[in-house]
Amino acid sequence: MEDWPGSYFDQDYLRTLLIKDDPQRNIQQVNFVLTETGVTRDSLILDLGCGYGRHLEVFSQHSYRVVGLDFNRNYLLKAREKSNSKGRNMDLIQGDMRKLPLQDNIFDLVTLFFTSFGYFTEEDDAKTLLEINRVLRNGGYLFLDLENRDHIIRYFKTDEIREYPAFTLLERHRFDIHTGIQHTRRIYFRKEEKKEVKRELRLYSFAEMKRILEETGFLVEKVFGDYNRTALNLESTRMLILAKNVN
Ligand SMILES: C[S@@+](CC[C@H](N)C(=O)[O-])C[C@H]1O[C@@H](n2cnc3c(N)ncnc32)[C@H](O)[C@@H]1O
Repeated sequence: MEDWPGSYFDQDYLRTLLIKDDPQRNIQQVNFVLTETGVTRDSLILDLGCGYGRHLEVFSQHSYRVVGLDFNRNYLLKAREKSNSKGRNMDLIQGDMRKLPLQDNIFDLVTLFFTSFGYFTEEDDAKTLLEINRVLRNGGYLFLDLENRDHIIRYFKTDEIREYPAFTLLERHRFDIHTGIQHTRRIYFRKEEKKEVKRELRLYSFAEMKRILEETGFLVEKVFGDYNRTALNLESTRMLILAKNVN
């Protein structure tokens, strides 16, 4: 598996596919995590793959101590700009979630919102979970907001076309049943330019995620199909997992 995320998570991704900054939705998602984990105000929270910081902002508005980590410098700059404009000082770290530049046992909660997991080899995905386990205090929580593989497979689409003001985006998907990886070619058509990037997202079923989490020192406490707490089922587009560090 090549290291494709560097070219995939670029400015076009930020402008198009990365979920829009909708304050109400951000608040709902953060409140969901706070309620389900019951973390207190003196807790320390790590948002991994924080992107441009849409959840960091809400955590800090609620006076939680939060650190954001992402490997994309431009996304972090955008998060920094936004927090400066609101007069807030955020802790932002540029780094790779597979090897966290952070001390052991310091966080009470680690969050990965909006499909920020499943981009690597199975070994590296497990390494990421072990790293999360290392930086979490015993009894701390991990929150994963993933795509629901079973829904994707049930309604599998090979081609999707999306229209944006500046370009048309063609997505071509292929699912490799042997590896569980959804391979996507994203082709941006501009007036005089065509740009192609790829994504390889390993889609884990809930049963697989539960097993991998157990193997890396977690116990799954709850799973939902959306932020309204609907039970996970074949119609759920998301898979929201709350797991406790029991190591
Ligand atoms: C789908 S986006 C989600 C962003 C953010 N959580 C949100 O909900 O707006 C995934 C994020 O993970 C980051 N990312 C991907 N691979 C990473 C890695 N190895 N280490 C750190 N961040 C990574 C990307 O730069 C991107 O910001």
